Amino acid sequence: MTIRKKATISRTRKAEYLRRCARIMAASEPWLTLGLDYRACLASVSGPLREVYAARLGGKSLGFVIVEMNGSFKGYIKAICVAPEARGLGLGSRLMAFAERRIFRETPNVFLCVSSFNRGARRLYARLGYATAGILRDFIVKGSHELLLRKTLGPLRGRRGGAKRS
Ligand SMILES: CC(C)(COP(=O)(O)OP(=O)(O)OC[C@H]1O[C@@H](n2cnc3c(N)ncnc32)[C@H](O)[C@@H]1OP(=O)(O)O)[C@@H](O)C(=O)NCCC(=O)NCCS
Repeated sequence: MTIRKKATISRTRKAEYLRRCARIMAASEPWLTLGLDYRACLASVSGPLREVYAARLGGKSLGFVIVEMNGSFKGYIKAICVAPEARGLGLGSRLMAFAERRIFRETPNVFLCVSSFNRGARRLYARLGYATAGILRDFIVKGSHELLLRKTLGPLRGRRGGAKRS
């Protein structure tokens, strides 16, 4: 589909773009059900250690993916979101593939959390090869769980140069 193929994906550090990300998130599931308002969403996407990659077409932002490459869960996808009007056209899959390529250059694991009620996203991640690594029960709101998912190329040790294949 055109949007998926023609959109460009690149890193952005602009504060205004982060504010836009937070606005989109705060108006969308799963963040609505999780009770995360604009301020909470902005806090969750901001920070010097987060890498924000934006998908754009004709100057319009269509979606973004945010990656963390530090801490115990190095290679963590902090958030992914596609604008409502562009969903279901393959852009989310492309953003995921982009994030995975970036992460697998340095580490053999990609981690992310998905809410138990977010069936659409769970289907997508299962299709992309993610497995459940843990369940954080009643983690953000009572009655819904955060599923920690992992996609892996293999163990941390025994790979020269991080995740590179020999
Ligand atoms: C999840 C999301 C990033 C996927 O992007 P996308 O461009 O719609 O995805 P693709 O077109 O590449 O793939 C389609 C798949 O995405 C999932 N999906 C589609 N619409 C969705 C929606 N509104 N919410 C969640 N998942 C959705 C479905 O698994 C769909 O596959 P299916 O048609 O076989 O059911 C996007 O739908 C979105 O931003 N959803 C709302 C925010 C969200 O749930 N983010 C993930 C938090 S962990």
